[in-house]
Amino acid sequence: MTTHEVLADELTKARQRTLRLVDFDDAEVRRQYDPLMSPLVWDLAHIGQQEEWWLLRGGNADRPGLLSPQVDQLYDAFTHSRASRGELPLLPPADARAYCDTVRGRALDVLEALPDDHPDAFTFAMVVSHENQHDETMLQALSLRSGAPLLDRGAALPPGRAGVAGTSVLVPAGEFVLGVDATTEPFSLDNERPAHVVDVPAFRIGRVPVTNGEWRGFIDDGGYREPRWWSAEGWAHCRQAALTAPLFWGDGALTGTRTRFGHVEDIPDDEPVQHITYFEAEAYAAWAGARLPTEVEWEKACAWDPATRSRRRYPWGASAPTAALANLGGDALRPAPVGAYPAAASAYGAEQMLGDMWEWTSSPLRPWPGFTPMVYENYSQPFFDGVTTGDYRVLRGGSWAVAPGILRPSFRNWDHPIRRQIFSGVRLAWDADV
Ligand SMILES: [Fe+2]
Repeated sequence: MTTHEVLADELTKARQRTLRLVDFDDAEVRRQYDPLMSPLVWDLAHIGQQEEWWLLRGGNADRPGLLSPQVDQLYDAFTHSRASRGELPLLPPADARAYCDTVRGRALDVLEALPDDHPDAFTFAMVVSHENQHDETMLQALSLRSGAPLLDRGAALPPGRAGVAGTSVLVPAGEFVLGVDATTEPFSLDNERPAHVVDVPAFRIGRVPVTNGEWRGFIDDGGYREPRWWSAEGWAHCRQAALTAPLFWGDGALTGTRTRFGHVEDIPDDEPVQHITYFEAEAYAAWAGARLPTEVEWEKACAWDPATRSRRRYPWGASAPTAALANLGGDALRPAPVGAYPAAASAYGAEQMLGDMWEWTSSPLRPWPGFTPMVYENYSQPFFDGVTTGDYRVLRGGSWAVAPGILRPSFRNWDHPIRRQIFSGVRLAWDADV
């Protein structure tokens, strides 16, 4: 396929997914499930508004848009907090759908007319990434929804295998190439670039993420009641938010059940734990005699091949993700059991590095040396450590809700350390002497 065909295909797949996530009656789509998340109809129109802004208006406010300025500004994420979006005079769902449709038709015309290898192809890829990222956001909103389930329990996943939980792999000391360049990953985002060599001391990292069964050991051992496992800030949050178990477990630590998209079900012991804050991840690691990986360690364990002294495009090699290699794309609605993807191991033997759940790292979001902002200058820059007034930690690897076409080992996500409505989990790391 040509670059144009790939982009048109990715735009279409993202839109099919978006429309499935708002395929409910108007009252449902307008409902705000939680102050942490926007009503679905806001995300829908915002997807169209950003697509129009970048692809039809060229990021130029002087170029008139399809919406009046008063309506257009309702979809500016920097102007309106998520908590306030339910009160805004938003476009009704039918109008939002029609608006997105009109923008898409025109965007595809622009794409068609674009000369091959034109730099604007990157902007299309950025818009693809944006829509897919909002699809994950909408799934987070849906996971917070109360009431009878709207979604089914999710697609089937491969079985896990015994003996991998709690084991680790060694990543010997040495240099590797962190980050990527436009030459190898033309659609990588600004904070993934540029590629540069870093030296990393030896470490061990979990072969697979921490499981629900292991997490139950932390609960049963009084982990949520013992300040010694927590940072001062983490303990203050644990007390203030009255944390006793991952989100959606409720009394699950006692009953062994959780609520997932409205379904009450047994908590599978061999599934990676999900819906934990950074502070919980950090406390668990301390209790387990481990620590969180840095994002640099994480990326080395995921992408570096010491035999060829080069990066792999994916942990397992060059081939694109498939359902046999990673749990991505949003249909599963949950992580796969540990050990489900032995063929997808990285060169060092780490499994499930892509998909399933985002993995908290100990790293704040910082620019790589030589960072240059992309056309959407506010994608990363306002959130960098020392620039932002907020506190963020980097998450790596993508969740089951991430579209395979936008994920790379270099992809960086970030969020506040108290957040856990996101599909977040943890993989442990340890210092090593070799
Ligand atoms: Fe957005």
